[in-house]
Amino acid sequence: MDLFEYQARDMFEAHGVPVLPAEVVTDPAEAAAVAERVGAASGGVVVVKAQVKTGGRGKAGGVKLARSPQEATEAAEQILGMDIKGHTVGTVMIAQGARIAEEYYVSLLLDRANRTLLAMCSKEGGVEIEQLAVERPEALARVPVDPLVGIDAATAAEIVQQAGFTTDQDAIADVLQQLWKVYEAEDATLVEVNPLVKTEDGAILALDGKVSLDDNADFRHPDRAELVDAASADPLEAKAKEKGLNYVKLDGNVGIIGNGAGLVMSTLDVVAYAGEDLGEVDGVLARPANFLDIGGGASAEVMADGLDVILGDEQVRSVFVNVFGGITSCDAVANGIVQALEMLGDKETKPLVVRLDGNNVEEGRRILTEAGHPLVTLADTMDGAARKAAELAVTTNS
Ligand SMILES: Nc1ncnc2c1ncn2[C@@H]1O[C@H](COP(=O)(O)OP(=O)(O)O)[C@@H](O)[C@H]1O
Ligand SMILES: [Mg+2]
Repeated sequence: MDLFEYQARDMFEAHGVPVLPAEVVTDPAEAAAVAERVGAASGGVVVVKAQVKTGGRGKAGGVKLARSPQEATEAAEQILGMDIKGHTVGTVMIAQGARIAEEYYVSLLLDRANRTLLAMCSKEGGVEIEQLAVERPEALARVPVDPLVGIDAATAAEIVQQAGFTTDQDAIADVLQQLWKVYEAEDATLVEVNPLVKTEDGAILALDGKVSLDDNADFRHPDRAELVDAASADPLEAKAKEKGLNYVKLDGNVGIIGNGAGLVMSTLDVVAYAGEDLGEVDGVLARPANFLDIGGGASAEVMADGLDVILGDEQVRSVFVNVFGGITSCDAVANGIVQALEMLGDKETKPLVVRLDGNNVEEGRRILTEAGHPLVTLADTMDGAARKAAELAVTTNS
């Protein structure tokens, strides 16, 4: 999950990273009072900043300097509702204005290719860092960080030295260690500060923050739900998340349920191929509607929850349940499907193609055949099932 700048700022503050006073508003009418508060120590100067999860807000006109509460109100009026790279601004952060002397760049991220963490740091911040990395790679220090050690004093000193700082080494090294605390304690995969600034009176401050959190660690952070941007989350994905399902919405019309991420990925492929093979029928092309991995268990409840989410997708016209019985045998899965259909009752309105294979498949098929649900079709092979589900998606009137 990516955070908004104001959420990153609050996290920075909680871990001792130096930031400026700031508050968010969603209504321009609140801007003047906030500007008066946060601008009290900077002669009334504040910066009004669009809160959208994309970079380059400054260039897009989403960051404006205001010298009085009145100007802050005007800036908030201009920025709220603005579209920045497809993101509509619903919130602005009003931050104390800084008198910037120099702008630096710092980030800490997961370096998958090298199976370690990486710190990047440059004396030339504020600019597009991707551009700097390409045009002047020597200006961007890259220091591997051992995840078991983190950024200790020695690593921080090395980063500062490689980036070429000749003044403020200690203050910058301190910030690097505080940013490491954010990364570690919050289970982040990215912590970026661009710019980290030195002010005219010599203070080092994080003026912009970007934080991505590792969703796999959510269980360690019970308060994290508050950070979720409910307004822009997909309602089906939100519902799936609530039920603990591994679901990703796509925009096709064949709902997919499988057990195991690899099987589900290949199911998406065979459905996409079957759809293309079939071609458009009355302007409709069969394509996968989602990724949903129900994992090893495939209990009736999980199956019912999964079907419930998929059937809630208005674009879905057929559903393909592709299960390979392993530790959980096919008869247990078949019973799960039968019970799930009973639990759903009238909610189950779309044709279901079920392909079972693996451990105890004969018994699984027998259970489904015997149940004789009018909307369920059994298929022998994965390709055959994909074909059938694709056909149903382009011929069913729903
Ligand atoms: N509180 C502030 N005081 C003064 N200038 C600021 C402040 N916050 C941002 N800026 C200036 O605006 C520029 C862009 O802001 P930033 O928060 O980095 O947004 P983005 O990276 O999305 O463009 C910064 O590089 C900095 O020069
Ligand atoms: Mg920035």
